[in-house]
Amino acid sequence: MKAVVYDKSNFPDTLVLRELEKPIPDDNEVLVKIFAVSVNAADYRSMKLGIIPKGKIFGADIAGRIEAVGKNIKKFKAGDEVFGDTASCGFGGFAEYVSVTESVLVLKPMNVPFETAAAVPMAAVTALQALRDKGNIQPKKKVLVCGAGGGVGTFAVQLAKYYGAEVTAVCGEKNVEVIQSLGADHVINYNKEDFTSGGKRYDLVLAVNGKHSLTAYKRVLAPKGIVVMVGGALSQILRTMLFGGLMSMGNKKMQLLKAKSDTEDLKFIIKLVEEGKVKPVIDRCYPLNETPKAVKYLSEGHAGGKVVINVKDCRENLNL
Ligand SMILES: NC(=O)c1ccc[n+]([C@@H]2O[C@H](COP(=O)([O-])OP(=O)(O)OC[C@H]3O[C@@H](n4cnc5c(N)ncnc54)[C@H](OP(=O)(O)O)[C@@H]3O)[C@@H](O)[C@H]2O)c1
Repeated sequence: MKAVVYDKSNFPDTLVLRELEKPIPDDNEVLVKIFAVSVNAADYRSMKLGIIPKGKIFGADIAGRIEAVGKNIKKFKAGDEVFGDTASCGFGGFAEYVSVTESVLVLKPMNVPFETAAAVPMAAVTALQALRDKGNIQPKKKVLVCGAGGGVGTFAVQLAKYYGAEVTAVCGEKNVEVIQSLGADHVINYNKEDFTSGGKRYDLVLAVNGKHSLTAYKRVLAPKGIVVMVGGALSQILRTMLFGGLMSMGNKKMQLLKAKSDTEDLKFIIKLVEEGKVKPVIDRCYPLNETPKAVKYLSEGHAGGKVVINVKDCRENLNL
């Protein structure tokens, strides 16, 4: 099979297209023929930190068709169309095939294209867990999403609207239009306006990306409000780990999210996608051999939604 392998010795072009043996699933695994895989910050951040998957193949969010199953597999059969987040079982998505445990996969509805399904797992589950589990989102609450333009942000805006919140989205110039189209009530272009210096207050602030200090985020909270730190600079995450508890004294809270892959959450989100209530935003698609370009584009930090790799021409695989 073709796969994009991480090879440190080939610096600076560390992602290299190679021909590898097709994996053989063990008794507890399924072999997935991958049609599409999306890129996440987890891919390039892990590379930078030297956290390399055992098989040296990155790419977590896969969508494809099951080709073979191990003898202990109960949930799936060959031919099933599936998608999921393989980060917890070694990544492996930047390839034509991957063998994974069945517990990370969910059936893909037939009417959801492979690219769309691949755009969902990590980003959408992160947004959901930030809003629902850490942020305790409620109808009519005022929610601000800082870093609304990217993978997590575009899902967060739509899910917050789904839960009935009044949503303010903060993004750069080029993403204003797309964020408006997702139903945000107010869109702030961070090049023109600093939301932390105005008088507006929010019940929930989702800090997905941005350069604000923890005190600036806390300043825009309404009484009993909560900041959920999702991402951004490593220094912000570390500061939240160190000072989040201290900053949560009083009636305003600061929480750090560590999202966990969860197939029940995936089922919930894909149903919203199927019903047209949530629309994954795909900025760009690349073929498998251009995976290095796709990862570079995302790591530059200004993608408008998700970046997806078409591993196979899906029409070809559907015999259309
Ligand atoms: N806590 C967790 O468990 C968890 C899970 C997944 C991801 N994350 C983290 O969440 C962050 C976002 O992930 P992602 O997948 O959404 O990344 P992404 O797709 O690369 O999106 C990042 C977005 O941030 C926006 N941005 C850049 N500078 C900004 C600024 N100064 N103010 C506001 N927005 C800005 C960019 O849009 P513009 O062009 O509009 O600026 C870009 O679209 C990453 O740091 C990632 O590591 C955390």
